[in-house]
Amino acid sequence: MQTSSATKQNTFAEDVLKGLSSEPKFLSSKYFYDDEGSRLFQEIMKLPEYYLTRAEFEIFETRTKEIFKAFAAPDNSFDLIELGAGDGTKTAVLIDYFLKQNADFTYSPIDISQEAIDFLTEKFKNEFPRLSMKAKTGDYFRILKTLKTESNRRKILLFLGSNIGNFSPEQALEFFRHLRGVMNENDLLFVGFDLQKDPRVILNAYDDAQGVTAEFNLNLLRRINRELGANFDLEKFSHYAIYRPTECAARSFLISREQQSVFVEALNQSFDFKAWEPIFMEISQKYNLEMIEDLARESGFQVAENFFDENRYFVDSLWRVS
Ligand SMILES: C[S@@+](CC[C@H](N)C(=O)[O-])C[C@H]1O[C@@H](n2cnc3c(N)ncnc32)[C@H](O)[C@@H]1O
Repeated sequence: MQTSSATKQNTFAEDVLKGLSSEPKFLSSKYFYDDEGSRLFQEIMKLPEYYLTRAEFEIFETRTKEIFKAFAAPDNSFDLIELGAGDGTKTAVLIDYFLKQNADFTYSPIDISQEAIDFLTEKFKNEFPRLSMKAKTGDYFRILKTLKTESNRRKILLFLGSNIGNFSPEQALEFFRHLRGVMNENDLLFVGFDLQKDPRVILNAYDDAQGVTAEFNLNLLRRINRELGANFDLEKFSHYAIYRPTECAARSFLISREQQSVFVEALNQSFDFKAWEPIFMEISQKYNLEMIEDLARESGFQVAENFFDENRYFVDSLWRVS
Protein backbone atom coordinates (compact mmCIF):
# COMPACT_ATOMS: atom_id res chain seq x y z
CA MET A 1 0.00 0.00 0.00
CA GLN A 2 1.17 3.54 -0.76
CA THR A 3 1.87 5.91 2.09
CA SER A 4 -0.05 9.17 2.01
CA SER A 5 3.17 11.12 1.38
CA ALA A 6 3.90 8.87 -1.63
CA THR A 7 0.36 9.54 -2.89
CA LYS A 8 0.91 13.29 -2.44
CA GLN A 9 4.18 13.07 -4.42
CA ASN A 10 2.37 11.16 -7.18
CA THR A 11 -0.33 13.82 -7.40
CA PHE A 12 2.34 16.52 -7.51
CA ALA A 13 4.19 14.63 -10.27
CA GLU A 14 0.94 14.10 -12.25
CA ASP A 15 0.07 17.79 -11.99
CA VAL A 16 3.57 18.80 -13.12
CA LEU A 17 3.30 16.38 -16.05
CA LYS A 18 -0.07 17.81 -17.05
CA GLY A 19 1.13 21.41 -16.78
CA LEU A 20 4.45 21.03 -18.60
CA SER A 21 2.83 18.96 -21.39
CA SER A 22 0.19 21.64 -22.04
CA GLU A 23 0.27 24.42 -24.57
CA PRO A 24 0.84 26.99 -23.10
CA LYS A 25 2.70 25.37 -20.21
CA PHE A 26 1.45 26.00 -16.67
CA LEU A 27 2.14 25.00 -13.05
CA SER A 28 -0.52 24.97 -10.33
CA SER A 29 -0.15 27.75 -7.77
CA LYS A 30 -1.33 25.39 -5.01
CA TYR A 31 2.23 23.96 -4.94
CA PHE A 32 3.88 27.28 -4.11
CA TYR A 33 3.76 26.66 -0.38
CA ASP A 34 6.58 24.34 0.70
CA ASP A 35 8.69 25.55 3.68
CA GLU A 36 10.53 28.16 1.63
CA GLY A 37 7.38 29.13 -0.30
CA SER A 38 5.46 29.73 2.94
CA ARG A 39 8.38 31.82 4.25
CA LEU A 40 8.53 33.83 1.02
CA PHE A 41 4.76 34.44 1.09
CA GLN A 42 5.16 35.84 4.61
CA GLU A 43 7.81 38.20 3.17
CA ILE A 44 5.43 39.17 0.33
CA MET A 45 2.71 40.04 2.84
CA LYS A 46 5.09 42.59 4.42
CA LEU A 47 6.12 44.26 1.14
CA PRO A 48 5.14 47.91 0.65
CA GLU A 49 3.60 47.01 -2.74
CA TYR A 50 1.48 44.12 -1.41
CA TYR A 51 -1.51 46.10 -0.11
CA LEU A 52 -3.89 43.11 0.12
CA THR A 53 -2.87 41.78 3.54
CA ARG A 54 -2.79 45.23 5.13
CA ALA A 55 -6.23 46.08 3.70
CA GLU A 56 -7.85 42.88 5.00
CA PHE A 57 -6.04 43.24 8.32
CA GLU A 58 -7.51 46.73 8.63
CA ILE A 59 -11.02 45.36 7.97
CA PHE A 60 -10.62 42.73 10.70
CA GLU A 61 -9.21 45.25 13.17
CA THR A 62 -11.81 47.95 12.59
CA ARG A 63 -14.94 45.84 12.00
CA THR A 64 -14.37 42.98 14.45
CA LYS A 65 -17.48 43.71 16.45
CA GLU A 66 -19.83 43.74 13.44
CA ILE A 67 -18.20 40.63 11.99
CA PHE A 68 -18.66 38.82 15.28
CA LYS A 69 -22.29 39.91 15.49
CA ALA A 70 -22.99 38.56 12.01
CA PHE A 71 -21.21 35.25 12.72
CA ALA A 72 -22.52 34.55 16.19
CA ALA A 73 -26.27 35.11 15.76
CA PRO A 74 -28.52 33.50 16.82
CA ASP A 75 -26.98 31.50 19.70
CA ASN A 76 -23.30 32.47 20.00
CA SER A 77 -22.13 29.04 18.86
CA PHE A 78 -20.55 28.14 15.53
CA ASP A 79 -17.77 26.25 13.74
CA LEU A 80 -15.21 28.35 11.86
CA ILE A 81 -13.64 26.53 8.93
CA GLU A 82 -10.86 28.31 7.08
CA LEU A 83 -9.97 27.13 3.57
CA GLY A 84 -6.35 27.77 2.53
CA ALA A 85 -5.56 29.25 5.94
CA GLY A 86 -1.84 29.93 5.34
CA ASP A 87 -0.23 31.39 8.47
CA GLY A 88 -3.58 32.62 9.86
CA THR A 89 -2.16 36.01 10.90
CA LYS A 90 -5.30 37.95 10.02
CA THR A 91 -7.68 35.31 11.33
CA ALA A 92 -5.92 35.62 14.70
CA VAL A 93 -7.48 39.09 15.07
CA LEU A 94 -10.98 37.60 14.83
CA ILE A 95 -10.19 34.61 17.02
CA ASP A 96 -8.76 36.80 19.76
CA TYR A 97 -11.95 38.89 19.83
CA PHE A 98 -14.30 35.87 19.64
CA LEU A 99 -12.53 34.26 22.62
CA LYS A 100 -12.80 37.49 24.62
CA GLN A 101 -16.56 37.43 23.93
CA ASN A 102 -16.66 33.88 25.34
CA ALA A 103 -18.15 32.63 22.08
CA ASP A 104 -18.65 28.87 21.87
CA PHE A 105 -16.77 28.06 18.66
CA THR A 106 -14.25 25.72 17.09
CA TYR A 107 -11.62 26.64 14.50
CA SER A 108 -10.63 24.26 11.67
CA PRO A 109 -7.89 25.57 9.40
CA ILE A 110 -7.50 23.54 6.20
CA ASP A 111 -4.43 23.85 4.01
CA ILE A 112 -2.72 21.69 1.43
CA SER A 113 0.66 22.76 2.81
CA GLN A 114 1.80 20.67 5.81
CA GLU A 115 4.35 23.41 6.61
CA ALA A 116 1.62 26.05 6.79
CA ILE A 117 -0.58 23.88 9.04
CA ASP A 118 2.34 23.00 11.38
CA PHE A 119 3.32 26.67 11.70
CA LEU A 120 -0.24 27.82 12.32
CA THR A 121 -1.06 25.05 14.84
CA GLU A 122 2.05 25.80 16.88
CA LYS A 123 1.41 29.55 16.81
CA PHE A 124 -2.29 29.36 17.73
CA LYS A 125 -1.68 26.80 20.52
CA ASN A 126 0.71 29.26 22.14
CA GLU A 127 -1.33 32.36 21.45
CA PHE A 128 -4.77 30.91 22.25
CA PRO A 129 -4.50 28.04 24.76
CA ARG A 130 -8.32 28.08 25.22
CA LEU A 131 -9.06 27.68 21.49
CA SER A 132 -10.68 24.45 20.37
CA MET A 133 -8.83 23.73 17.13
CA LYS A 134 -9.03 20.89 14.59
CA ALA A 135 -6.47 21.53 11.84
CA LYS A 136 -6.58 19.47 8.65
CA THR A 137 -3.95 19.05 5.94
CA GLY A 138 -5.07 18.39 2.40
CA ASP A 139 -6.93 19.69 -0.61
CA TYR A 140 -10.04 21.55 0.56
CA PHE A 141 -12.13 19.93 -2.20
CA ARG A 142 -11.42 16.53 -0.67
CA ILE A 143 -11.82 17.60 2.96
CA LEU A 144 -15.07 19.48 2.37
CA LYS A 145 -16.88 16.32 1.29
CA THR A 146 -17.81 15.48 4.88
CA LEU A 147 -18.68 19.03 5.93
CA LYS A 148 -22.47 18.80 5.86
CA THR A 149 -22.68 16.06 8.47
CA GLU A 150 -19.72 17.10 10.62
CA SER A 151 -21.77 18.90 13.30
CA ASN A 152 -25.22 20.45 13.50
CA ARG A 153 -23.94 23.88 14.53
CA ARG A 154 -23.77 26.83 12.16
CA LYS A 155 -20.67 26.52 10.01
CA ILE A 156 -18.89 29.59 8.75
CA LEU A 157 -16.52 29.03 5.88
CA LEU A 158 -13.69 31.54 5.60
CA PHE A 159 -11.93 32.00 2.27
CA LEU A 160 -9.67 34.95 2.86
CA GLY A 161 -6.84 36.98 1.35
CA SER A 162 -6.00 36.36 -2.24
CA ASN A 163 -7.38 32.80 -2.28
CA ILE A 164 -10.40 33.36 -4.55
CA GLY A 165 -8.26 35.57 -6.80
CA ASN A 166 -6.27 32.47 -7.76
CA PHE A 167 -9.33 31.15 -9.62
CA SER A 168 -10.58 32.45 -12.96
CA PRO A 169 -14.18 33.78 -12.74
CA GLU A 170 -15.45 30.47 -14.25
CA GLN A 171 -13.48 28.41 -11.71
CA ALA A 172 -14.73 30.70 -8.92
CA LEU A 173 -18.35 30.07 -9.94
CA GLU A 174 -17.77 26.33 -10.00
CA PHE A 175 -16.01 26.52 -6.62
CA PHE A 176 -18.85 28.46 -4.94
CA ARG A 177 -21.47 26.09 -6.38
CA HIS A 178 -19.46 23.24 -4.92
CA LEU A 179 -19.36 24.99 -1.52
CA ARG A 180 -23.11 25.63 -1.71
CA GLY A 181 -23.59 21.89 -2.21
CA VAL A 182 -21.83 21.02 1.06
CA MET A 183 -23.39 23.82 3.15
CA ASN A 184 -26.60 23.76 5.21
CA GLU A 185 -29.28 26.52 5.08
CA ASN A 186 -28.02 28.35 8.15
CA ASP A 187 -24.32 28.28 7.26
CA LEU A 188 -22.36 31.35 6.10
CA LEU A 189 -19.55 32.02 3.70
CA PHE A 190 -17.06 34.87 4.31
CA VAL A 191 -14.92 35.63 1.25
CA GLY A 192 -12.13 38.17 0.69
CA PHE A 193 -12.13 39.83 -2.74
CA ASP A 194 -9.45 42.17 -4.01
CA LEU A 195 -11.23 45.07 -5.71
CA GLN A 196 -10.47 46.89 -8.97
CA LYS A 197 -8.26 49.93 -8.55
CA ASP A 198 -5.48 51.82 -10.34
CA PRO A 199 -3.89 49.12 -12.56
CA ARG A 200 -0.42 50.36 -11.58
CA VAL A 201 -1.12 49.67 -7.91
CA ILE A 202 -2.28 46.15 -8.79
CA LEU A 203 0.64 45.37 -11.09
CA ASN A 204 3.22 46.51 -8.52
CA ALA A 205 1.76 44.09 -5.99
CA TYR A 206 2.82 41.21 -8.29
CA ASP A 207 6.11 42.71 -9.42
CA ASP A 208 7.78 44.15 -6.32
CA ALA A 209 11.00 46.12 -6.50
CA GLN A 210 12.92 43.75 -4.18
CA GLY A 211 12.14 40.72 -6.37
CA VAL A 212 10.51 38.66 -3.58
CA THR A 213 7.56 37.72 -5.83
CA ALA A 214 10.03 36.60 -8.50
CA GLU A 215 11.80 34.40 -5.91
CA PHE A 216 8.43 33.04 -4.75
CA ASN A 217 7.59 31.92 -8.31
CA LEU A 218 11.08 30.53 -8.99
CA ASN A 219 10.89 28.58 -5.74
CA LEU A 220 8.33 26.25 -7.32
CA LEU A 221 10.97 25.18 -9.86
CA ARG A 222 13.34 24.61 -6.93
CA ARG A 223 10.67 22.46 -5.27
CA ILE A 224 10.23 20.39 -8.45
CA ASN A 225 14.02 19.92 -8.57
CA ARG A 226 14.11 18.72 -4.97
CA GLU A 227 10.96 16.64 -4.73
CA LEU A 228 10.72 15.27 -8.26
CA GLY A 229 14.42 15.14 -9.14
CA ALA A 230 14.29 17.74 -11.91
CA ASN A 231 17.17 19.85 -13.21
CA PHE A 232 15.63 23.29 -13.74
CA ASP A 233 18.39 25.93 -13.89
CA LEU A 234 16.75 28.88 -12.11
CA GLU A 235 19.14 31.33 -13.77
CA LYS A 236 17.54 30.47 -17.10
CA PHE A 237 14.03 31.56 -16.09
CA SER A 238 12.75 35.00 -15.21
CA HIS A 239 9.56 36.19 -13.60
CA TYR A 240 7.13 38.39 -15.57
CA ALA A 241 3.81 39.86 -14.40
CA ILE A 242 1.02 41.59 -16.33
CA TYR A 243 -2.31 43.17 -15.48
CA ARG A 244 -5.12 43.25 -18.05
CA PRO A 245 -7.75 45.82 -17.09
CA THR A 246 -10.23 44.41 -19.65
CA GLU A 247 -10.24 41.10 -17.75
CA CYS A 248 -9.52 42.60 -14.31
CA ALA A 249 -6.78 40.00 -13.92
CA ALA A 250 -3.08 39.99 -13.05
CA ARG A 251 -1.08 37.03 -14.30
CA SER A 252 2.40 35.76 -13.39
CA PHE A 253 4.69 33.82 -15.68
CA LEU A 254 8.15 32.30 -15.62
CA ILE A 255 9.84 32.90 -18.96
CA SER A 256 12.44 30.53 -20.36
CA ARG A 257 15.34 32.85 -21.26
CA GLU A 258 16.72 30.43 -23.85
CA GLN A 259 15.95 27.23 -25.69
CA GLN A 260 16.49 24.41 -23.21
CA SER A 261 15.44 20.99 -22.09
CA VAL A 262 14.58 20.05 -18.49
CA PHE A 263 14.57 16.46 -17.19
CA VAL A 264 12.17 15.37 -14.42
CA GLU A 265 13.38 12.11 -12.89
CA ALA A 266 10.08 11.21 -11.18
CA LEU A 267 8.39 11.36 -14.59
CA ASN A 268 11.37 9.93 -16.48
CA GLN A 269 10.70 12.59 -19.07
CA SER A 270 12.30 15.69 -20.59
CA PHE A 271 10.41 18.87 -21.38
CA ASP A 272 11.55 21.22 -24.14
CA PHE A 273 11.34 24.97 -23.80
CA LYS A 274 11.65 27.38 -26.70
CA ALA A 275 13.50 30.65 -26.12
CA TRP A 276 11.13 33.10 -24.35
CA GLU A 277 8.44 30.46 -23.86
CA PRO A 278 6.24 31.24 -20.80
CA ILE A 279 5.06 28.97 -17.99
CA PHE A 280 1.80 30.39 -16.67
CA MET A 281 2.05 30.36 -12.87
CA GLU A 282 -0.84 32.23 -11.30
CA ILE A 283 -3.90 34.36 -11.95
CA SER A 284 -4.92 37.09 -9.48
CA GLN A 285 -8.46 38.05 -10.42
CA LYS A 286 -9.83 41.41 -9.28
CA TYR A 287 -13.51 42.17 -8.74
CA ASN A 288 -16.06 44.96 -8.54
CA LEU A 289 -19.23 44.84 -6.45
CA GLU A 290 -21.41 43.94 -9.41
CA MET A 291 -19.21 40.95 -10.25
CA ILE A 292 -19.42 39.83 -6.61
CA GLU A 293 -23.24 40.14 -6.52
CA ASP A 294 -23.51 38.16 -9.77
CA LEU A 295 -21.16 35.46 -8.54
CA ALA A 296 -23.11 35.08 -5.30
CA ARG A 297 -26.48 34.89 -7.05
CA GLU A 298 -25.33 32.47 -9.74
CA SER A 299 -23.86 30.08 -7.19
CA GLY A 300 -26.89 30.01 -4.86
CA PHE A 301 -25.96 32.69 -2.32
CA GLN A 302 -27.02 36.19 -1.37
CA VAL A 303 -24.67 38.94 -0.19
CA ALA A 304 -25.63 39.65 3.44
CA GLU A 305 -23.05 42.33 4.22
CA ASN A 306 -19.83 43.80 2.80
CA PHE A 307 -16.92 44.97 4.94
CA PHE A 308 -14.45 47.39 3.31
CA ASP A 309 -11.12 48.94 4.25
CA GLU A 310 -10.88 52.71 4.22
CA ASN A 311 -9.37 52.90 0.70
CA ARG A 312 -11.95 50.43 -0.64
CA TYR A 313 -9.07 48.36 -1.97
CA PHE A 314 -10.51 45.13 -0.57
CA VAL A 315 -13.81 43.70 0.60
CA ASP A 316 -14.73 40.81 2.88
CA SER A 317 -18.14 39.76 1.67
CA LEU A 318 -20.48 37.77 3.92
CA TRP A 319 -22.82 35.46 2.01
CA ARG A 320 -25.84 33.56 3.22
CA VAL A 321 -27.44 30.67 1.41
CA SER A 322 -30.31 31.91 -0.80
C1 LIG B 1 -2.34 33.05 -1.03
S1 LIG B 1 -2.20 31.99 0.37
C2 LIG B 1 -3.37 32.81 1.40
C3 LIG B 1 -3.24 32.45 2.83
C4 LIG B 1 -4.22 33.15 3.76
N1 LIG B 1 -5.60 32.77 3.47
C5 LIG B 1 -4.08 34.64 3.71
O1 LIG B 1 -5.05 35.31 3.38
O2 LIG B 1 -3.01 35.14 4.03
C6 LIG B 1 -3.04 30.55 -0.19
C7 LIG B 1 -3.06 29.36 0.77
O3 LIG B 1 -3.99 28.39 0.26
C8 LIG B 1 -3.40 27.09 0.27
N2 LIG B 1 -4.01 26.32 -0.83
C9 LIG B 1 -3.94 26.59 -2.17
N3 LIG B 1 -4.67 25.69 -2.86
C10 LIG B 1 -5.22 24.83 -1.94
C11 LIG B 1 -6.08 23.70 -2.03
N4 LIG B 1 -6.53 23.27 -3.20
N5 LIG B 1 -6.46 23.08 -0.88
C12 LIG B 1 -6.00 23.52 0.33
N6 LIG B 1 -5.20 24.59 0.47
C13 LIG B 1 -4.81 25.24 -0.64
C14 LIG B 1 -1.90 27.35 0.11
O4 LIG B 1 -1.12 26.29 0.62
C15 LIG B 1 -1.72 28.66 0.88
O5 LIG B 1 -1.39 28.46 2.23
